[in-house]
Amino acid sequence: MSGTAKMSLSSKLSLSLAVLLALSVVPAQAQLQVQVQGQPSAQSPAAAEQSAEFKRGRLLYIQCRACHDLQPSPVEKVGPNLAGIIGRRSGADTDFVYSPALKTVKLVWDKPTLDRWLEKPSALAPGNTMAFAGIANPADRAALIRYLEIESAPH
Ligand code: HEC
Repeated sequence: MSGTAKMSLSSKLSLSLAVLLALSVVPAQAQLQVQVQGQPSAQSPAAAEQSAEFKRGRLLYIQCRACHDLQPSPVEKVGPNLAGIIGRRSGADTDFVYSPALKTVKLVWDKPTLDRWLEKPSALAPGNTMAFAGIANPADRAALIRYLEIESAPH
């Protein structure tokens, strides 16, 4: 009797050990998947929208949504329309009245420039009127830029 009880206890222990082991492996695998999916490969838009990075970007974009649209719109929000923003010149929304700071800074919104902008808008174009402090985490900025790239493309 006591022998059987011991057996089942030890098999329970080894089972929970196996579960622990499996759990500790999962994050590494998930991370690898994010890295692979984050590659700008020949991925279909549908697949890209399933990636963890895209979902993170979508979450972060909630901070921008009140002030910006990513597709052409007849209604101008507080900020300029960001349709096709990747590679666009700064101050190029002809329906928007930019501050002198952003009108004269002469930038092209490629990914490295957007990264600097999103880290600290006030540093890249001092005196601009975008009321947003910035995003400190580089991975978050990369995820947001990836989201902008996909969602601001014509569709
Ligand atoms: C409170 C409103 C507000 C929020 C929030 C906001 N923006 Fe802006 N954004 C603006 C305004 C206003 C401008 C124009 C600033 C100027 O003219 O100086 C601007 C400008 C920009 C520009 C330059 C566009 C161009 O045509 O040159 C980009 C890119 C941009 N914002 C992206 C973002 C992103 C991405 C977020 C979210 C992280 C965000 N903004 C959050 C109001 C906002």
